[in-house]
Amino acid sequence: MSDATTHTGPLRHFLQFRDLSKTEIQYVLDRARLIKSKFKRYEAHHTLHDRNLAMVFEKASTRTRVSFEAGMYQLGGSVIHLTTGDSQLGRSEPIEDTARVISRMVDLVMIRTFEQTRIERFAAHSRVPVINGLTNEFHPCQILADIFTFIEHRGPIEGKTVAWIGDANNMAYTWLQAAELLGFRLHVSAPTGYRLEAERIGQPSSSVLQEFSDPMEACQGAHLVTTDVWTSMGYEAENEERRKAFADWCVDADMMAVADPSAIFMHCLPAHRGEEVTGEVIDGPQSVVWDEAENRLHVQKALMEFLLLGQM
Ligand code: CP
Ligand code: NVA
Repeated sequence: MSDATTHTGPLRHFLQFRDLSKTEIQYVLDRARLIKSKFKRYEAHHTLHDRNLAMVFEKASTRTRVSFEAGMYQLGGSVIHLTTGDSQLGRSEPIEDTARVISRMVDLVMIRTFEQTRIERFAAHSRVPVINGLTNEFHPCQILADIFTFIEHRGPIEGKTVAWIGDANNMAYTWLQAAELLGFRLHVSAPTGYRLEAERIGQPSSSVLQEFSDPMEACQGAHLVTTDVWTSMGYEAENEERRKAFADWCVDADMMAVADPSAIFMHCLPAHRGEEVTGEVIDGPQSVVWDEAENRLHVQKALMEFLLLGQM
């Protein structure tokens, strides 16, 4: 652990999107733009020299693992990769004890796990910042990348409309937090039984959230149409039931046609062509999914810097 780890300000975590203020999100996005442009010019940017990130994966990952691991090395630091299976977490060591130990040895922790309460318990016993790399409830790093990608392609997201088509999952709840914080509209269409839960969302203003039974209506006039798998990790036992329930929630060319003419399509990936999205849409001209995936790298580098160094 480098001496420079000592925080001058209070310890900050990124467990939910709203853990950062609007100004801080804007700062991280601006910083990500600088970091991306340096990356594209092969210019070194070693602001986290000698810092160490521990990544704990209790679920599978491609993008999150590669973007955090590559990102930390690119910032001059290093990474330790742990999974449930190859650590004592898989042998019932309490998450609190794991947090106490890991956070004495590294500068920063990223966790992908199941319940949000599990990452909260970890963070409550951590001496270093903790980042949510996906839980059942939220996926804040992905939404940070999605908003960065929207701004790159279409300018400010404030006042725009995002259509979420499909499961009210970790991505949907995070979109809602972002809409409330950053001032854009969220249209959500999900089948009965898979909608946003009233007790979780409170009473968002109708200028922030509108729910639709018909996915075509949710797409009307949207500037961004986005979706995700019908079955998220951890819910595989419901797969067959979900395949039937979600059959009409497939983003296709007809849905894109009723969106705003400038509309773009995003998907956090991995995608199932022919289920939540057609191949025509995800591989078509309105899709920005590869930029979206790449931008995980740039925004997370900015986020790690911010959590360790504050605003520079
Ligand atoms: N979008 C995303 O988080 O992808 P991975 O599951 O591959 O990390
Ligand atoms: N909602 C999906 C996102 C995967 C990146 C899941 O939780 O499995």
